[in-house]
Amino acid sequence: MIHVDASIVRRSEDHPSYPMMNSYPFPHYEHITELFSQMQIGIWLIDHRGSMVELNSISSQFLGLDRDEVLYRPIDHVISQLDPSQPNYNQFISFLTSTYPQQNEMELEWETVEGRHLFLVRRRRINNKESGFSGDFFMMENKTEVDSLAKQAQLSNRLATIGQIAAGTAHEIRNPLTSIRGFLQVIGHKLKEIGQQKEQAYIDIMLKEINRINSLVSEFLLLSKPRLVNRRTSAILLQEAIDDILPIVQGEATLHNIELHFHQEVEGSLVIEADSELIKQIFLNLCKNAIEAMKAEGVLTICISKDEHSKYAIVQIADQGPGIPACMMEKVFDPFYTTKENGTGLGLPICKQILRELNGKMEVSSDENGTTFHIYLPLAALSS
Ligand SMILES: Nc1ncnc2c1ncn2[C@@H]1O[C@H](COP(=O)(O)OP(=O)(O)OP(=O)(O)O)[C@@H](O)[C@H]1O
Ligand SMILES: [Mg+2]
Repeated sequence: MIHVDASIVRRSEDHPSYPMMNSYPFPHYEHITELFSQMQIGIWLIDHRGSMVELNSISSQFLGLDRDEVLYRPIDHVISQLDPSQPNYNQFISFLTSTYPQQNEMELEWETVEGRHLFLVRRRRINNKESGFSGDFFMMENKTEVDSLAKQAQLSNRLATIGQIAAGTAHEIRNPLTSIRGFLQVIGHKLKEIGQQKEQAYIDIMLKEINRINSLVSEFLLLSKPRLVNRRTSAILLQEAIDDILPIVQGEATLHNIELHFHQEVEGSLVIEADSELIKQIFLNLCKNAIEAMKAEGVLTICISKDEHSKYAIVQIADQGPGIPACMMEKVFDPFYTTKENGTGLGLPICKQILRELNGKMEVSSDENGTTFHIYLPLAALSS
């Protein structure tokens, strides 16, 4: 037998502000109400007079409503209890109140106590001849996880395709590079033998540039072979990795009239489990983005700290650029998303990929005063 909680099954006459209802909306309504209260899908009913005659507990949680406050009350009163600063507030209100709905479902972004969620809200018109009830039945399903899984799958697919192309291209570029490098080295030796110092210096520059192309190609390969990173990790000093890149960043900053500030908010050395070249690549990419965002003046701040549980070393790279618009916050991590004329749009996805492989993570906060990237790198056990 189903136990029916008296506080759940309330009749309309319990509430003085609601006109008497002669019957429940459905036969066996008490049992159905009990069932609704157990469901993980939000459910509510608005009758033909525009009053909320049922609202299960999960929907009151989702919508931030007090069930006792809104049950058997007119829809206007229910609306007055909703938070107007919610992202899709206006669309939701018109969806709730339209008498001849064109649209039977809507996607709703809504801030709950647990954070922002994506819901699918469906509406069905009911005309129950037996009970004489007519009105609208709403169902609200939390799609947040499904949505983020779908997005992840989409991104993985894209990355896999890019990876395949990149792997093929990288292979084709590396082969000729190897022979060019080999012949250049031979020419370099010959020039040295005959004392052509100046010409030999040109060869050295060319060799350096070839090495740069080679490492760029390796960046592409990172997208296709994520496991590569795991094999190379070792305990490294975070401060050393930063010290190595500071002169490069300083040079680039000075060139753009940007001040570079560096702080360490933690005593002692931070040892992380990583690959120093890949870590430097993350910092360089983020500093380059920061400098590019500020264009011709501002302060670039690099700050090292660790989290309160000493699980992660944190590197913050902050700029005073124009910020990233809220709607672009996720997009900037998509491969090939760029707002720059000569950008590849691969900097951030590569950083994210490397961090994923290193069991680290990256967060970004941004407003019109600037952007800060927070990089979390797992501390090795021996960190002091
Ligand atoms: N610090 C920042 N401030 C403002 N916007 C940023 C910042 N960092 C990244 N972005 C935005 O994110 C986009 C993607 O960045 P990403 O590093 O992936 O590629 P890119 O910088 O455009 O190209 P590349 O890295 O190849 O030079 C940028 O084009 C820019 O619009
Ligand atoms: Mg970039």
